[in-house]
Amino acid sequence: MTMRALPWREAWDRALYAEDGFFRTSRPAEHFRTNAHVGSFATAIAELALRNEAQTIIDLGAGGGELLTALRSLVGDQMRLIGVELGARPESLPESIGWQSALPEQIDGLLVANEWLDNVPCDIVEMADDGRVRQVLVDPSTGVETLGDELDSDWLRTWWPLTEPGERAEIGLTRDAAWADVVARVNGTAVAIDYGHRRADRPPFGTLRSYAGGREVDVVPDGSRDVTAHVAVDSVAQAAGATAVRQRDALTRLGLQTTRPPLDLAHTDPAIYLQRLAAAGEAGELVAGGGLGDFWWLVTGSLEHGTLTP
Ligand SMILES: C[S@@+](CC[C@H](N)C(=O)[O-])C[C@H]1O[C@@H](n2cnc3c(N)ncnc32)[C@H](O)[C@@H]1O
Repeated sequence: MTMRALPWREAWDRALYAEDGFFRTSRPAEHFRTNAHVGSFATAIAELALRNEAQTIIDLGAGGGELLTALRSLVGDQMRLIGVELGARPESLPESIGWQSALPEQIDGLLVANEWLDNVPCDIVEMADDGRVRQVLVDPSTGVETLGDELDSDWLRTWWPLTEPGERAEIGLTRDAAWADVVARVNGTAVAIDYGHRRADRPPFGTLRSYAGGREVDVVPDGSRDVTAHVAVDSVAQAAGATAVRQRDALTRLGLQTTRPPLDLAHTDPAIYLQRLAAAGEAGELVAGGGLGDFWWLVTGSLEHGTLTP
């Protein structure tokens, strides 16, 4: 059955966040693997919180609470941990971890948003054969696209100019506004972590994708699958006064160890050897080129004491 074609932003928003939307009815970990599912990531976030003397860590878009659960055993009971998430509180979440659906007005401490901005819906445009930039509409039940009205946007001219018919862009205004709003609430450090691109390397046909059940699937905003697009990190950084650094650099600066333990240790202390070997494997996944290591961290505040430089 076909439905009325909608602007992508509206169809995307319904697909993920309506009452029967994807993130209201399933957990991210059922469908894909993120930083939050890799143990050593929590170690780096704990280090960041300690360096900033944060008393509170807020995980925005906390998914199944994996990061917060790992943090609880790392930072001890004195630090407040709060998940802000539209999905229901996970049953297995430790009682000492708070869970709420909206951000507090003011946040003192550290706020982390891992793979949150890529799920903030945006308008999508395409340059038509006549050279005009038009809004892309989508049938939510089939994913079939049509071109709608012309869409004029200062943001496109500044951040993602289209030059050839067929080229597409995801207009980042909603992400810019969303992250600026988050940062304005934080007295401390805010970090958004996501895949992204900068003006010099925008993908000519955009990055809109769907994932479900551990694999990439056709892009259809029908609520049965994730809908995601990479983040224009330079634009968000400017809007929010943040600095963009690659994940591999951020994690190195936070002391993540990727080297394997010496083989001697396997004989003298096999348990510690295996523990460090597993941690090095996880760290390797977090810094891998072509994978999680290519993510961007948009940081407001500091990764270490002193000034943050890109
Ligand atoms: C891709 S998942 C990432 C989950 C987790 N951070 C991770 O890295 O595994 C994005 C999550 O953000 C949540 N989310 C999106 N918009 C939100 C909002 N405005 N407030 C709270 N949670 C939101 C979704 O429900 C979803 O669980």
